[in-house]
Amino acid sequence: MDDRRHSRTTLSDVRHEALGDVSSTNTECLARARAGDPGPLWITARRQTGGRGRRGRPWASEPGNLYASLLLIDPAPLDRLPSLPLAVAVAVHDAIRKVVPPGGEPVEIKWPNDILIGRKKTCGILLESENLADGRQALVIGIGINIAVMPDSGQYPVTSLAAQGASVSPDELFAHLYVSMNDMLVLWNRGRGIASVVELWRRGACGVGEKITVNLPDKSLSGQFAGIDDNGLLMLDTGGGRLLPIAAGDVFFE
Ligand code: BTN
Repeated sequence: MDDRRHSRTTLSDVRHEALGDVSSTNTECLARARAGDPGPLWITARRQTGGRGRRGRPWASEPGNLYASLLLIDPAPLDRLPSLPLAVAVAVHDAIRKVVPPGGEPVEIKWPNDILIGRKKTCGILLESENLADGRQALVIGIGINIAVMPDSGQYPVTSLAAQGASVSPDELFAHLYVSMNDMLVLWNRGRGIASVVELWRRGACGVGEKITVNLPDKSLSGQFAGIDDNGLLMLDTGGGRLLPIAAGDVFFE
């Protein structure tokens, strides 16, 4: 694919459809892509009956929270896509910081793209992609933000924007997200702007220097979180001067 053909996304290119009850906004976006939608397209829903989380977990989706997915078509050459989750995290972090009252608990990014307030999860992000029959790649960025409802994950502490003193509706929060995501995709620039994105991500990150455990599909690794490298990989200091790069996993602080 000739990368030069792709121009930058501007706010006026991006459409938004607000739906009522859906199975999953990610599923809706993938269906639009299969039907030929050129993206970028946001789909938001009042409630999801089959909300999906990472690693096949369900994402409880009652009304009151934000459920939003952004469909992008051929967002970047494949080798540059791994940096997209960091850009998404920075955009969501920006949007959430706009609505929480000043002086509260810190709003931070947990690698790669969870947003925590006071070390409690307030947002989940699920990126899914599919190669379409016509050769295009559909990439969906799904974002769930706890506003009024705080589903118990059983895995980690959770919070909501309301519990943090923010008084905001899903629509108002989405308006901030729409702008911050656009700004960040322009900066990311189909992956060419990764250095600027990584710099912003590092400013918002929590836990650098702390002891962590990273759960991988087949094992758990423990060590010190040494930050991220210039491509966004987590660097785990396992002792003995070894820094282990990790591309995907669930991080737990000790
Ligand atoms: C996670 O497990 O942390 C990721 C959760 C992602 C949930 C969002 S809600 C909007 C979009 N639609 C889905 O079915 N999932 C994502």
